[in-house]
Amino acid sequence: MNSETIKNFTATSHANWKNPGSKLVYFECNSPFSVADIDTDNKSLWRYKHNIPINESNIISLGEGLSPLIKINLGSLTAMIKQEQLFPTGSYKDRGATVMLSHARSVNATHVIQDSSGNAGCSVAAYSAAAKINCDVYVPEDTSPAKLTQIALYGANLIKVPGDRTATAEAALLAAQNNYYASHCYNPYFYEGTKTFAYEICEQLNWTAPDRVILPAGNGTILIGAWLGFKHLLKSKIISHMPMFIAVQAEKCSPLYEAWFNNMPINDYKNQGTIAEGIAIESPIRGELMIDIIKATGGSFITVNEEEIIETFFELGKMGYYVEPTSAATIAGIIKLKNSINRDELVVSLFSGHGLKSGDKTAYLMQEKRP
Ligand SMILES: Cc1ncc(COP(=O)(O)O)c(C=O)c1O
Repeated sequence: MNSETIKNFTATSHANWKNPGSKLVYFECNSPFSVADIDTDNKSLWRYKHNIPINESNIISLGEGLSPLIKINLGSLTAMIKQEQLFPTGSYKDRGATVMLSHARSVNATHVIQDSSGNAGCSVAAYSAAAKINCDVYVPEDTSPAKLTQIALYGANLIKVPGDRTATAEAALLAAQNNYYASHCYNPYFYEGTKTFAYEICEQLNWTAPDRVILPAGNGTILIGAWLGFKHLLKSKIISHMPMFIAVQAEKCSPLYEAWFNNMPINDYKNQGTIAEGIAIESPIRGELMIDIIKATGGSFITVNEEEIIETFFELGKMGYYVEPTSAATIAGIIKLKNSINRDELVVSLFSGHGLKSGDKTAYLMQEKRP
């Protein structure tokens, strides 16, 4: 890593349960956040470049960030929802990819490795294309074609690995020994992008923090990023409190919920299959940190079942919003909680991915599950 680009930042390590001998790193900004430092002419997340450990000359941007924050009525509850499905590749992962690929460029990487067949793979492929850096995306052999087409369109090399998701991760880790590992899970620069989610929310709320944020919990890229952002604002006395974090998992893939409520070890969980593919992560490597964050913010985990996800997917459609089933899962979580949330609480969440990205799933749901 280029030490110059991380001046003003402390690298903190936390446990990697999957490989206890190694640690995972995230950064914390040491200089206080100042509203005066925001480049207000810049209508992307790079308006906060003062707080992102990248030299301006290396920025690779496709105009991501500053998503609208809109009020949505969900029955008796009103929530504020960030429209992250409107990003260049159709999901909030562009926040992480813009910073990570900018860092890859700053260290003169010519080749990056990534291992996601989902939205992170799409984002890393797109920003690699913009940076003119070769990109290999490792995917399990039996991955469904929907997002692979988008990844291929950006010119990334798709490497199909025989076996399951673990075999794919191992192949990617091996390849990453000689290349830049552009992993949304391991690479700390990714979280330097997703933390801007919190900066934007507070700026759009006139420097007020929400009472509660309700977020998806797969690998934790948005949850951990949001926590880093709010933490920085709180430490800088820009906001007065840390929001309570509620993490939503699919009932059929809920390792963290089981760890939280039933003391199950995080590494002993088997995905039972859910339509919310983006949060179908059976062993999140930063799982312990995610649990620590939920504890520290006084929050909790909840699960939603397949019927609740599908019902919400159709309800949102009727309201004019077309999101991925994974996005619908988070909103289903808000609906499930609505009786335990006070009417005057400021609740913020997001639409994490666009429905146009999962046309195959929509076709299936329209044919088989339409109410
Ligand atoms: C649409 C969508 N929503 C939510 C998530 C949750 O991911 P994470 O917990 O890593 O932020 C993902 C992950 O790929 C996703 O694609």
